[in-house]
Amino acid sequence: MKPLLLSVAALFLFASVFSPARSDTAMEASMKLMSQASKQLGTDLAQTDDTKHAKDLDLKSVASIKAESLKSRDLVPKKEQSLPPDQQQTMTQDFQKDMDTFIKDVDTLNQDIQSEQWNAARDDFKKLMDEQRADHKLYRTKH
Ligand code: HEM
Repeated sequence: MKPLLLSVAALFLFASVFSPARSDTAMEASMKLMSQASKQLGTDLAQTDDTKHAKDLDLKSVASIKAESLKSRDLVPKKEQSLPPDQQQTMTQDFQKDMDTFIKDVDTLNQDIQSEQWNAARDDFKKLMDEQRADHKLYRTKH
């Protein structure tokens, strides 16, 4: 009985240490939260009746995107480790510069929603999604 219990315990320990969730980087965890917030915003901004927006929820999502972007800005993308050492510093600088632009544009979206400028909010949200796509091409490892 005891060896069986020990084997089960060892299996659990192994699974908890090596499960895919453990291999998430802090940046990936932030990005997942940004992804959830973007989905809520995308759905709400697609709403054509501008009297029906979930303004408070939208503002929470924008705040979450901003908080997670600020956290990510001070982290290092995984891709950087695969670059030659003499290119790594440039990548950090470019990444931080693009994150700063993104964060500034998140602030603009926040103002649009605060002042209920829904058409501007739609345009500025689209701009963020375009930046996200371009930045992922530059800074994410290809699978
Ligand atoms: C709302 C905007 C964004 C969304 C919804 C988003 C979403 C995501 C998602 C879903 C992942 C994969 C996470 C995983 O594998 O678990 C990811 C990874 C990543 N994203 Fe974003 N992203 C956004 C903006 C940005 C911006 C602006 C940058 C860079 C300036 C960026 C850089 C990265 C990097 C470098 C990774 C790979 C993580 C790592 O290296 O550890 N993302 N993103």
